[in-house]
Amino acid sequence: MLKNFQLGQKFNILLVTIFAIAVIVSGVAFSAILSRNTEQQVSAKATLLLQTMLSVRQYTLDQVAPELTPRLDTETEFLPQTVPGYSAREVFEDLRKNPEYNNFFYKEATLNPTNLRDQADSFETNLVKNFKTNSALKEMTGYRPSPAGDLFYIARPIAIAKESCLRCHSTPEAAPKSLLTTYGSANGFGWKLNDIVGAQVISIPASLVTNSTQHDFFLLMGIIATAFAAIFLLVNLLLKYTVIRPLNLMAKVANEVSLGNMQVDFERVTNDEIGKLAAAFNRLKTSLVMAMNMLERE
Ligand code: HEC
Repeated sequence: MLKNFQLGQKFNILLVTIFAIAVIVSGVAFSAILSRNTEQQVSAKATLLLQTMLSVRQYTLDQVAPELTPRLDTETEFLPQTVPGYSAREVFEDLRKNPEYNNFFYKEATLNPTNLRDQADSFETNLVKNFKTNSALKEMTGYRPSPAGDLFYIARPIAIAKESCLRCHSTPEAAPKSLLTTYGSANGFGWKLNDIVGAQVISIPASLVTNSTQHDFFLLMGIIATAFAAIFLLVNLLLKYTVIRPLNLMAKVANEVSLGNMQVDFERVTNDEIGKLAAAFNRLKTSLVMAMNMLERE
């Protein structure tokens, strides 16, 4: 079949094949690199936020709680501002007012929480159990399904590292009265020193990761396609003006010579192989003319 194709067609088949292979190979490689990079960036952002929340907790513990704790025993209403988890949550909610971050979620998912809003769901419960059974595990990342689409999450264990935490989380008897009035005595107790009670979880919609990856992917593929289109055009032009046209012209001249018109010449425009061929044909024509003249004389 290839035998019946013109030179240009053969070259184009070759180019399109190379193009297809290049697109597939580079597409697979790019998408792997891009999604890894985007995931790293997103995870770095989430890690920074998690660290910040830890600092907010620490600040509350070190500076706010000592100021407010005396009031916990005297006032009837509990002051949640003393609680590290509360301040972290409030700071994060404030951050989420920023349109750039309103798709980020922060939760101190806990197995037996004081505030039921922090109750770990079944997925988070599994995360916490993983942290409990494997104390060397310091962080988990991945995707989880949600009704609004997949979420990319990053989670770290929450451990009871300080004795002071136990005042409010060990037994209802030890806790300030106002805490019981606000939260009741049914949950958020029985925690032990060094226990892992929950996990800090930051989640963002996976579409944030995949959309920006897709955008970059199509941009890169667009650049490759444009570059190949330009190469395609250039090769075709080059082929047409340096090979196909001169060959067609030579074929036409050879036709005329074969019909007896000896006035036409093979034009030598270039010094490449085509030019050499034209020169050789011209010598052939001269020999032919001489041979015919000799025949005529005899
Ligand atoms: C003064 C009492 C008090 C102290 C001390 C305290 N907590 Fe809490 N903790 C609470 C209350 C009340 C909440 C619920 C706050 C809210 O409404 O979000 C809470 C919430 C939490 C939560 C979120 C899950 C849940 O139970 O709702 C975690 C995790 C937590 N505390 C861990 C700690 C750790 C760790 C310490 C010690 C560094 C600590 N707490 C010290 C009272 C306390």
